[in-house]
Amino acid sequence: MTDKNYILENPDTGEKFFLKKDLGSIGPSVLDVTSIYSKQGIFTFDPGFAATASCKSDITYIDGENGILMYRGYPIEVLAKSSSFLEVCFLLLNGELPNQDELNNYEKLISDNSNLDKTVLNTLKGFKNDAHPMSILSAMLNSMAAFYHDSIDINKEDQRNTFNTNIISQVPTAAAAAFRHITNKSFLGPDKSLGYCENILKMFFGEKDSEFKFDPISSEALNLLLILHADHEQNCSTSTVRMSGSSGVNPYAAISAGVTALWGPAHGGANEAVINMLDEIGSIDEIDTYVDKAKDKNDPFRLMGFGHRVYKNYDPRAAIIREMCHKVLEQLGEKNSPTLDKAIKLEEIALKDEYFIEKNLYPNVDFYSGIIYQAIGIPKSMFTVIFAIARCAGWLAHWNEMIKDPLTRIGRPRQLYTGKRKRNYLPIKDRR
Ligand code: CMC
Repeated sequence: MTDKNYILENPDTGEKFFLKKDLGSIGPSVLDVTSIYSKQGIFTFDPGFAATASCKSDITYIDGENGILMYRGYPIEVLAKSSSFLEVCFLLLNGELPNQDELNNYEKLISDNSNLDKTVLNTLKGFKNDAHPMSILSAMLNSMAAFYHDSIDINKEDQRNTFNTNIISQVPTAAAAAFRHITNKSFLGPDKSLGYCENILKMFFGEKDSEFKFDPISSEALNLLLILHADHEQNCSTSTVRMSGSSGVNPYAAISAGVTALWGPAHGGANEAVINMLDEIGSIDEIDTYVDKAKDKNDPFRLMGFGHRVYKNYDPRAAIIREMCHKVLEQLGEKNSPTLDKAIKLEEIALKDEYFIEKNLYPNVDFYSGIIYQAIGIPKSMFTVIFAIARCAGWLAHWNEMIKDPLTRIGRPRQLYTGKRKRNYLPIKDRR
């Protein structure tokens, strides 16, 4: 390895060649393999992209070894303590924190655009009440793609800005519509006199023509959870938004693809899976059995809310959520929460267990978030929907970055083909 290049030998030809090293502002450097196939005739192999940087990005930095997460250079702990979710959206989308005037204007812009068109709301009619709200949300976003299909040119900045605004403004309204649909309640539109989180709570839990009362801790907790989930660099759903967006697809459809990718239990669906797991663990005495199941190679069971591709240390978001979890339960008068007790005990046991220590498996962002959602009255199937409201900020920031990046090409990985070589076609009468 020289200062700038990495020297390799082509295993097929024995030829020595260089890979250019590129440096980021912090974090590991990369070896540029873009010409390795055209010059050397070989592909690189990296299932799950564990060691592959798919793009250059200015948005979010994670140091998984040291449990560090920063949006645009600001540590997550500082943003969680001092910001509102809309401030964080502004930061992610524009690169800088807003001043007071900018924030006031942004809040007004988001609030003013929060109504959903009737045709988008009508999407609900195609769903039974027992549908999963993630499928409804993803369909509503596709319906938005249909609604805005002839009025968006992704090459025009003003149209991209309108798209950004519509997503941040209207996805909470779509999420609330999905929630009311699955709980058999009629749709309650946005209240533009309220802040972002208060409005979400009202659209979820409010009643028509009656004053909406909510505990301030609920909106404080929601604001915190939205900030912590807002972005996480090239995770599965964000990479999905970038990948689908790279084909030039209608961007509402790219966000819908992100929602779909987020739904899985290995990704955003873990918050729902954690509560299912804690419910399944009947009592604290049964925790050891579940820890043993998680360690058993022949059992597919995993401790949900544990482990992370990037963090090999405590997920900094989990530490913040854990603290908020205690505060919420205390303030909502649920001091004795069997679910929280089980979670704390499970964490304690796992963190002392050789298997989890050796594999660097720590609680992640989803381990405690479901307990907070439950305490503020949000049902399990909606947890990942809230995650999606938050992650829209990151998806948009990455989609915009990708569109403006001169290095962007359609995402098109290669493969190591391991199938049959060419063979002769037998007419059906000759096949056995
Ligand atoms: N319980 C038990 N064993 C685990 C767990 C777990 N939760 N997570 C990983 N392992 C083991 C795994 O069996 C493997 O063992 P071995 O090396 O002996 O084969 C080793 O640890 C590495 O696991 P991996 O699956 O190769 O790691 P990955 O980076 O591909 O997967 C993960 C990361 C988050 C999908 C995984 O840890 C997991 O399935 N966790 C549970 C689901 C979860 O909580 N997901 C939310 C992630 S945070 C929210 C988000 O950003 O989406």
